[in-house]
Amino acid sequence: MKILSIETSCDETGISILECSGNIKNTSFKVLANSLNSQIKIHAPYGGVFPALAKREHLKNLPILLGRTLKKAKLEKSKKPVDLVAVTSGPGLEPALWTGIVFAKELSKKWNIPIIPVNHMEGHVLSVFGKGKEKFNVDTKKTTFPILALLVSGGHTELVLINNFGKYKIIGETLDDAAGEAFDKVARMLELPYPGGPEISKLAERERRKISKEKLEHFLGPRFPGSLSRPDHKKSSNFSSAFSLPRPMMYSKNFDFSFSGLKTAVLYLVRDLKEKDSNILQNDKIKEAIAMEFENAVVETLVHKTKKAIEQYNIKSVIVAGGVSANKYLKKEMKKLTKNKQTLYFPDKKLSGDNALMIGIVGYLKFLGRDKKGVNPSKIKAEGGLRL
Ligand code: KG4
Ligand code: ZN
Repeated sequence: MKILSIETSCDETGISILECSGNIKNTSFKVLANSLNSQIKIHAPYGGVFPALAKREHLKNLPILLGRTLKKAKLEKSKKPVDLVAVTSGPGLEPALWTGIVFAKELSKKWNIPIIPVNHMEGHVLSVFGKGKEKFNVDTKKTTFPILALLVSGGHTELVLINNFGKYKIIGETLDDAAGEAFDKVARMLELPYPGGPEISKLAERERRKISKEKLEHFLGPRFPGSLSRPDHKKSSNFSSAFSLPRPMMYSKNFDFSFSGLKTAVLYLVRDLKEKDSNILQNDKIKEAIAMEFENAVVETLVHKTKKAIEQYNIKSVIVAGGVSANKYLKKEMKKLTKNKQTLYFPDKKLSGDNALMIGIVGYLKFLGRDKKGVNPSKIKAEGGLRL
């Protein structure tokens, strides 16, 4: 059967169509179309997502994207192109969520098909099994439980214990800012564009490469063929040792996180630097050094808490998902942590951010779990604070 899924929880309008078969233990999916319309450029001048604008854009984009998606799936001429519709009902921005929900209800009525509401965070969990353009399987028999999911996005930072898909227990979460939110806010302090995660990450990687090159040059000496060392290479040309940021709650006894203090530490650091030199942020080296120290602080905290949870719950598989899972350094450190011990799942780069494909996967699994019954449309509403 075919499922059409809709995602409008934040600043991406997504519609996908999947051909699904199999049972709840082993389900096969074929991607017929997967469309995404990003509003990043529209929100960038505001330095974050502006809810009223997001709603307006979703309303405008949804019918256009539907036409394009049906065409891509070669279903535009069909009177009843799909058999089921799934839609994100929360968490997220309520005005944005409502646009997708109302649209999904209209389609369900028009085509006389059942409708399934989906938790966006469950979508991120299952996103690790998806593939952008191919066929893929969700084979729960091949997955070893218990699973620990680290969900890191613009709105959430959660450690979730999973003993079976559909059964989730949040064992730790952020008490203030989400990891992605901290990346975005620190990027703004460094006068970098929105969304800040990829920008910070780029600068941090540059700083890391510089440091490892300098270490190598220091070790091999300046006359090593191909060495690009400057005469002053022994005086550190990076500022990394000059900046040290806190790792809030890293050693607290629970699995909770806090990123607001870290963000404030960057704010004070930038303020102090600007007092000495108002043009300090024109200096790329300074920005690279701050970006790396900030990324180190976030990643070390995430990895440390994940390690503790792995030990306490005897975890067999680790899922890292949500927008921040696109972070290369996080991936590298998670690989180190789980090497030869746990199976590690990360989503395809295309599925790390918000998308409708992941909503389709959950929608179909939920439909199977409900004896192929939908949910009464009048019961489906936007729930901005919906939990797993
Ligand atoms: O899951 P997502 O697309 O949207 C929400 O549901 O919130 O996550 C978006 C977040 C943004 O805060 C963005 O800055 C962050 O993911 N992000 C990154 C990277 N790519 C995206 N953070 C760190 N490193 C990245 N490479
Ligand atoms: Zn998300």
